[in-house]
Parts: sequence; structure tokens; C-alpha cells
Amino acid sequence: MISSALPPSNMALRLSPFLLLLLLLLLISGLASPAAMAGPIGVNYGQIANNLPPPDHAVALVKSIGATRVKLYDADLRVLCAFAHTGVEFTVGLGNEFLAQMKDPKNALSWVKTNVQSFLPDTNITTIAVGNEVFTSNDTSLRDLLMPAMKNVHDALASLGLDKQVTVTTAHSLALLETSYPPSTGRFRRDLVSRVSQVLDFQCQTGSSFLINAYPYFAYKANPKQVPLDFVLFQSSQGITDPSTGLTYENMLFAQIDAVHSALAAVGYANMTVHVSETGWPSRGDDDEVGATPENAKKYNGNLIKIVKQKKGTPMKPNYDLNIYVFALFNENMKPGPMSERNYGLFKPDGTPSYMLSGGGGGGGMSNGTSSGGSGGGGSASDGSPPAPIGYLSVSSGASELQPVGAACLVLALFLIKLVF
Ligand SMILES: *[C@@H]1O[C@H](CO)[C@@H](O)[C@H](O)[C@H]1NC(C)=O
Ligand SMILES: *[C@@H]1O[C@H](CO)[C@@H](O)[C@H](O)[C@H]1NC(C)=O
Ligand SMILES: *[C@@H]1O[C@H](CO)[C@@H](O)[C@H](O)[C@H]1NC(C)=O
Ligand SMILES: *[C@@H]1O[C@H](CO)[C@@H](O)[C@H](O)[C@H]1NC(C)=O
Repeated sequence: MISSALPPSNMALRLSPFLLLLLLLLLISGLASPAAMAGPIGVNYGQIANNLPPPDHAVALVKSIGATRVKLYDADLRVLCAFAHTGVEFTVGLGNEFLAQMKDPKNALSWVKTNVQSFLPDTNITTIAVGNEVFTSNDTSLRDLLMPAMKNVHDALASLGLDKQVTVTTAHSLALLETSYPPSTGRFRRDLVSRVSQVLDFQCQTGSSFLINAYPYFAYKANPKQVPLDFVLFQSSQGITDPSTGLTYENMLFAQIDAVHSALAAVGYANMTVHVSETGWPSRGDDDEVGATPENAKKYNGNLIKIVKQKKGTPMKPNYDLNIYVFALFNENMKPGPMSERNYGLFKPDGTPSYMLSGGGGGGGMSNGTSSGGSGGGGSASDGSPPAPIGYLSVSSGASELQPVGAACLVLALFLIKLVF
């Protein structure tokens, strides 16, 4: 499989001027060495916007927050190419609108070849999220399509020998739960249990993780008088105790995750690994969206990153390495719905931070170089600032090694060059 992802060598020779140009592009785009930044946090790279910076710019931003994993809602060629050889792990998405086509195994195979295989191994795609919040979607016709799509995508991976390195899963809304509080009472919605169980059975057999999108912000917004703000922002002084387990919860996110653990245990999948595929907090909202402020967003995401790095796990599963993806990398100006929907980004479209994540250390929290990824590649890294445990780290741009690029990225490069000349 590896060789098929590389251009045949004679072709590479013929295209060498183009390759040179491409490598130059890679260099100036500041593709840093995969080194140093071993942080466990992930980030969702949503692109429902018409004003976002080019993906090579996003590489520097992702690195500046210490993220080592990125989740996409599609399999954007430009993004996957920009992140080649960066060491960043990818979850690619197969959107709800493609589920129906995936009923045909031939379409699934073709999708996997184009959107996954052609980027491996240069871009480390480890997961395919088939559908997003399908079971709680208003479009109930999608429900029947999910399981066959997941299965056919997995079978396609298997036929290409990729099923060990790339797993197939789907992301759920927390609305999949009928009860979630206290955490020990967590149960799946009765009308969805049999569908969820089918998916769980498949995931168990194929070794993928259960993905949940969890937003304590929604709970707070719906009930600001009753839900203590410090509990949702990871700043509770005494926490809340689950009467039936005696476990004390210091924050709502952990309570939500353990509610999912309870729901999984109740249907016989206590061992299923749970990842939080989305969580976040908006920095702006409509007048009636209580709590959507830069101060709260900074506290939520800053404390979240700090807690994830402590690797403490939740009360029900201590020492569990939480795998969490912040939503989102950028504010997305074309998302429908209330104003908050367009303001979850850690970054504004111009690449500047929406707010300063780091609480400590004056000045060091935000690197001015962060927003100018293009200029960093040739020069030296801003060595002066020590890496802070949280917040916006300065981007280190080590010397990129020249490496062959995958077939899909080569095609992209040729296309871009055609546009330029
Ligand atoms: C890709 O990510 C997986 C999961 O962390 C890791 O085991 C693997 O070594 C990575 N592959 C490459 C080529 O970096
Ligand atoms: C789903 O339907 C409900 C009730 O009809 C409606 O209030 C809600 O806005 C819809 N959601 C979406 C995402 O369309
Ligand atoms: C699953 O859970 C059981 C106990 O509930 C434990 O004995 C077993 O080792 C677990 N398996 C895995 C793979 O974690
Ligand atoms: C970055 O530096 C430029 C020029 O020194 C300055 O004008 C700008 O305000 C700085 N931006 C931030 C976010 O500090």
C-alpha cells in the first residue's frame, strides 16, 4: 500500500521542477518537525466559512495550541496535504450526505481509496468518522443508513489492508442519552438502544472508540439559574456527589462522560473506550445566550486543556487517558443558528486568537508569530519563550526534511501550480 501512495519514480523525475516548487512551498509554509509537542489534546477543524486562512497556515495554529490530533468533517485534500509529515493524527469525516451512497460497497471502496489511502502514510489518518450525530438528527431516514455505511467503509479498508491502522466510528450527540444525571443513571434513549447496540457490537469487533459530542455550555445556557457556572467551567470548589456511587464530580464534562460510561455498561459494553469528539465554549452569543463570553470560553478551554494533560481520568474511570477534541479551531461565519454557533473558534479567521488561552505568564501566552505562519519557515524559531503547559505556545519551526509526497498531494500541487502560472 505504501508504494501506491508514492509517485512512480520516473514520473517524479519528469516532474522534478514542479516537485522542487512544491517542496519550496512546503518549506515556506513552515512545516515544523514532528518533535517536542506531545500534548494529548485534539482540535476540530471545521470549515463552514468563507474567510478562513489556507490550510498551511492552520498547521502553525494547530501546533501553537499543542494539539497533536485534528478532526475534520470531510477529507479535505488541501488540509490533508498541508499536514503531511507533521506527525499530527487525523480523523476524517464522511458526511451524512454521503451515507446513502455507501450502501454500495463499490462506492465505499472508491471513497476510501480517494480520501484515505491516497494520503497514507504521509498524513497519519487513524480514524474515519462515518456520519455525525446521525441517531439524533432530525432526518430520521439516515438512521437505517449508518450501520451499512460503517460496515462497507470498514470492509473497504480491510480489502486494502488498512483496517488495522484506520478504524471506523461515528460521533454521537449527548442527546442520545435519555437520562444523564446523576452520572450513574446514564442510559441510552429507549427508542435508539437497539440501533446503538448494533453499532457498539461492530465497534467492539473492529476495535474503534465511541465518540460523543459533549457541551456543558448547552446545559448552562438552558438553565443558568440552576446550573452553577463554576461547575461547568472546571472551577467548582466542592463538586457534586452522585448519591448511588458516592463519586464526587468536580465538573460537568466528567459527569457527562461518566453518564456515557453508565449507558454503555447498561447495554453490556462497559469496556468501550469513550472519546469526546467535540466540546467547547462560544466566545460570543446572542443576547439571550447567557455565558457566551470570551472570559468564560477562555476559562472553559484553558481549564479543559489543563485537566486533560493531568491524565487523571473521570471518577468512574480514573487514570483513563481522556481523548478530547476541542471545538473548534476557527470561528465559522457561515454556520446557521444562534450567534454562538459561529463563535466557538480558538482563532479568528485572520489567525489571531479569539482570546488568550493561557492564564499565567504575562506576554508569553500568545506568540505574535503565530498569526504569520508564512514568515516563520526560513527563519529561526522564537527560542526565547519557554513552552508553557497551556495556552498558545510559540511555533517552533525546525528544519523540515525533504520527503516524497503522496499521490493525492502531488495532484493538488500540480493543480495549484496550474492556477499560479
Ligand atoms: C499514526 O498514529 C498512530 C496512533 O497514534 C501511531 O501509532 C502511528 O505510529 C502513527 N503513524 C505514523 C506514521 O506516524
Ligand atoms: C429539528 O426539529 C425541531 C422540531 O421540529 C426543530 O425545533 C429544530 O430546530 C430542528 N433542528 C434542526 C437542526 O433542524
Ligand atoms: C473488560 O472489563 C472486565 C471487567 O468488567 C475486565 O475483566 C476486562 O479485562 C476488560 N477488558 C478489557 C479489554 O479492558
Ligand atoms: C504583533 O506585532 C505587530 C507589529 O509588531 C503589532 O502591530 C501587533 O499589534 C502585534 N499583534 C499582537 C496580537 O500582539
